[in-house]
Amino acid sequence: MSIAKLAILGGGQMGAGIAQVAASNGIDVTLIKATPGSSDPVKATIEKSLTRLVEKEKMSQAGAMEVMGRIAFTDDLGAVATADLFIESIIEDIEVKKAKFAEVDRIMKPQGILASNTSTLAITEMQDATERSERFIGLHFFNPPTAMKLVEVVPTRTTDPSVTSVAIGFCERLGKTPVLVADSTGFIVNRLLTPYMVDAMRCLEAGLSDIHGIDTAMQLGANHPMGPLALADYIGLDIVHAMATNLYESFGLEHMKPTRTLDHLVAEGILGRKSKLGFYDYSESPPVPNPALHG
Ligand code: CAA
Repeated sequence: MSIAKLAILGGGQMGAGIAQVAASNGIDVTLIKATPGSSDPVKATIEKSLTRLVEKEKMSQAGAMEVMGRIAFTDDLGAVATADLFIESIIEDIEVKKAKFAEVDRIMKPQGILASNTSTLAITEMQDATERSERFIGLHFFNPPTAMKLVEVVPTRTTDPSVTSVAIGFCERLGKTPVLVADSTGFIVNRLLTPYMVDAMRCLEAGLSDIHGIDTAMQLGANHPMGPLALADYIGLDIVHAMATNLYESFGLEHMKPTRTLDHLVAEGILGRKSKLGFYDYSESPPVPNPALHG
C-alpha cells in the first residue's frame, strides 16, 4: 500500500507545512481546519510559502499552481472517509486529540492509517481511543516542515509492521529521513531540545548573558542555525511550555520544568514570532531582543 490521499487535521504551521510538502511530492491532500472559521488564512500561508520558492527560482509558477491544485481546504471532518493516511496536527491536549481520533476512526475507511504529529504526548494513549491500534503510528515532523529533513516515526507495541513500512515509505517519498523511535514523552528530539531551550532561559534569568549573547554563543559555539531563545520564539512559547510541562510530568527532572519567565510570557500571551513578541520583538526588522527581558 502506498499513500495517494492524505488528510491532515489542523491548519497551523505544522499542518500547513506538511500539506505543502506532501502536495509538492504528488500526494492529494485535504487540509481540514480543526477550529471553526475560514480556511483562507492557511491557504494564504501555503500560497505565500510557494511564492517564495517561485521568487527564488526553486519552483515554476505552473508548478506552484499544480501544488495548490492538489490541496483541498475544508472544515468538514467527513473528508477523512476516503483518505489512505490521516495526520492529526492540532493543539497538544490529549483529551481533544483522543476525541478527534475516536471520531475519525468511525468515519475513515478500514484500511486507512491514523497518525499523530504530537510533539510530546503518548501515541499509545491516543491509539487506545480507537478500534484500530494496529493501524496507528506517530509521525513527528519538525518546524518548518518544508525545510526540516527529519520525521520521527513512532510505532507502538501494537502497530502492524506493514503500517510502519508504509509510514517509512511515505516519509521517504516526501524527501524526509525517518528515524524509528519508541513511544516515550518527547521522543528523541524534544526530549533533548526542550530542556536545552528551557536551560537557556535559566541562563538568562541567572544573568549569565543577555538574549543576544546566549543566542550568539550557541550559534557560533555549537554551529546551530538559531540560538535557543530565537528557536523557542520560532516554535512558539506556548508549545515549548507544553512540551516542558509534559516532559517534567513524565520524568520529574527539574531541568525539564518551565521556568518562571516562560510561565509569565505564556500567561501574558507573549508567544514568540506568532504574537510578534517573545524573547525578541518581531515588529522591528530585523527583530531586536525584548528589552523587558534584560535584552
Ligand atoms: N517551502 C519549501 N522549501 C523551503 C521553504 C518553503 N516555504 N522555505 C525554506 N525551504 C527550504 C529552502 O529551499 C532551503 O532548502 P535548500 O537548502 O535545499 O535550498 C532550506 O529550506 C532552508 O531554507 P532557507 O535557506 O530559506 O532558510 P534559512 O537558511 O534561513 O534557515 C531555518 C531557516 C531552516 C528555519 C533554519 O534557521 C533552521 O534550521 N533553524 C532551526 C530549526 C529547528 O531547529 N527546528 C526544529 C524545531 S523543534 C520542532 O519542530 C519540534 C516540535 O515538535 C515543535
